[in-house]
Amino acid sequence: MKDYQKYILITGGAGFIGSHVVRLFVNKYPGYLIYNLDKLTYAGNLANLRDIEAKPNYRFIKADIVDGEYMVKLFAEHRFDAVIHLAAESHVDRSIASPMEFIMANIVGTVNLLNTAKFSWQDSFTEKLFYHISTDEVYGSLGEEGFFTEETPYDPHSPYSASKASSDHLVRAYHDTYGLPVLISNCSNNYGPNQFPEKLIPLFINNIHHSKPLPVYGKGENVRDWLYVIDHAQAIDTIFHKGLVGETYNIGGNNEWKNIDLIKVICEVMDDKLGRPQGTSEKLITYVKDRPGHDLRYAIDSGKLQRELGWTPSLQFEEGIRITVDWYLNNQQWLDEVTSGDYLKYYEEMYLKR
Ligand code: NAD
Ligand code: TYD
Repeated sequence: MKDYQKYILITGGAGFIGSHVVRLFVNKYPGYLIYNLDKLTYAGNLANLRDIEAKPNYRFIKADIVDGEYMVKLFAEHRFDAVIHLAAESHVDRSIASPMEFIMANIVGTVNLLNTAKFSWQDSFTEKLFYHISTDEVYGSLGEEGFFTEETPYDPHSPYSASKASSDHLVRAYHDTYGLPVLISNCSNNYGPNQFPEKLIPLFINNIHHSKPLPVYGKGENVRDWLYVIDHAQAIDTIFHKGLVGETYNIGGNNEWKNIDLIKVICEVMDDKLGRPQGTSEKLITYVKDRPGHDLRYAIDSGKLQRELGWTPSLQFEEGIRITVDWYLNNQQWLDEVTSGDYLKYYEEMYLKR
């Protein structure tokens, strides 16, 4: 096998954000060999990577990060220089229904990777990097004002955010205790192509397309800060190459939306794209019981990343949402494939019994 400049293990690369990170690294760095390790849960889909799967610098490994023995074997077989760790259970509502799956994948899985990296890299820490991808949800909920900074104390409320907070703490503990070279980034809500249609934006695009109700939790007054997924992937590239070991960087779009306002924009764009009279999709809005422990507001201050590493988001939301709607409308087969089987059962549990 030819020699590569770097051998990088990306976990969760068949998922939403992971697939954009894998694509960016494979295309931008032909001198790096990218290994995508993914268990292929309901959220992992190799169709997300069809355009790059035949590239010489890409390999796929189907594996579960919870399987510690297999991880040790894998690290012994390959000379990984770095790990970019995205594999996780990622949906808050599922974490409320089945917290143990989140504890296993997000906490036990992360510790397995940390242990394996510590053990396999012990004689060469200075040349290695363990980059952990996390969420702004670890910081809890904001009131009407203020932003999350890297100094905001952790205050998670859902089993999902608590499991991510726990994994962040463990990553820092491996740095402070054993000297493992780590980086962490905490990002706000992502949107864009290939997001599983259980999350707000793709779910609502899909439901509008099929004239199904739009289940708005509570009064729709919760606020999220939305970032286009490719901007997140580019931030990960920047932090991976320029971030200072041991540091944390917040990533955000400076793009806050109250859910109900965002939903109305999606309705407008969908009416426009589908050639339906304006107002048609809004009639599908249905207020349903609120999510338990529903965080009111997330908003990220990404000043440190912008000042110190020079990253800025590239896309305005109005453009990003149009690109996203077009993508879902043009990729009906992708949607049909992922909305069969397990997802349909979940959808019934979540919504039809609400
Ligand atoms: P996703 O659910 O779309 O994808 C997760 C991927 O991880 C899937 O491909 C799945 O098969 C894989 N996976 C799950 N458990 C695994 C295991 N035990 N072993 C190996 N692979 C496993 O998630 P996403 O939205 O792409 O999020 C990716 C990462 O980014 C997560 O760590 C998440 O916490 C974080 N994040 C997400 C957002 C967001 O808005 N989606 C925002 C900030 C941070
Ligand atoms: P989601 O996409 O699940 O992301 P997160 O909970 O990680 O922020 O939800 C975004 C917001 O939309 C959140 O405030 C919950 C709300 N929401 C609804 O009102 N209805 C829905 O069906 C879903 C999935 C989310």
